[in-house]
Amino acid sequence: MRIDIVSIFPSYFDTLDLSLLGKAKDRGLLDLRVHDLRDATHDRHRTVDDTPTGGGAGMVMKPEPWGEMLDEILLDTDSATDSATGNDPLIIFPSPAGEVFTQRMARELAHEQHLIFGCGRYEGIDQRVFDEYSARGRVRLVSLGDYVLNGGEVAVLAMIEAIGRLLPGVVGNPDSLVEESHEDGLLEYPSYTKPPVWRGREVPPVLLSGNHGAIAAWRHEQSLERTRQVRPDLLEG
Ligand code: ADE
Repeated sequence: MRIDIVSIFPSYFDTLDLSLLGKAKDRGLLDLRVHDLRDATHDRHRTVDDTPTGGGAGMVMKPEPWGEMLDEILLDTDSATDSATGNDPLIIFPSPAGEVFTQRMARELAHEQHLIFGCGRYEGIDQRVFDEYSARGRVRLVSLGDYVLNGGEVAVLAMIEAIGRLLPGVVGNPDSLVEESHEDGLLEYPSYTKPPVWRGREVPPVLLSGNHGAIAAWRHEQSLERTRQVRPDLLEG
């Protein structure tokens, strides 16, 4: 999968060199390219924002640097992976006004060949940027949740981690992807390891029984109970 990220804080994404995603990059499973939006400015101050037309607080990101940067990435795309697979890139703008990111969306996005993330800051990006690229291709606004961050960078890091670990070969043991929270619409059951007793607290005896049927049934019941307690909304409908 190819992922392009556009941001005014490219060093936010240095952490993607760590851990499983870093290894996936090194092994060529993930082609990650980070772009500094200010490289698409042409004034001495490398300006990316301006005051909101019509008045109001804060600053809005100007359309010109976004247009220049996204055009450059899309141009580079035509000659790269995408045209061969017939799969147009998908541009994602993280935004609290977007559809909420879920495990289902992560699974869906893991099938894409090429994702482009555009990280807004301040009061957001000039609406015409969304309109322009929606008219030319696929664009989605995606929110991490019902709260406001200072910009899209942290949201994009979370999305890339959730998507990246679903790519074939990224997580060593793919079985570990199956039995985790949200994969079956439930929260994950509690996990234990050795020693069997720690500070007087015992591992539930069923897990030491060797009875795989009983263990699976216990885990399912625990998942259901946890979901009922913490996230009853997941059980509705
Ligand atoms: N940018 C600011 N807040 C955000 C959120 N909740 N999700 C995604 N991007 C954001």
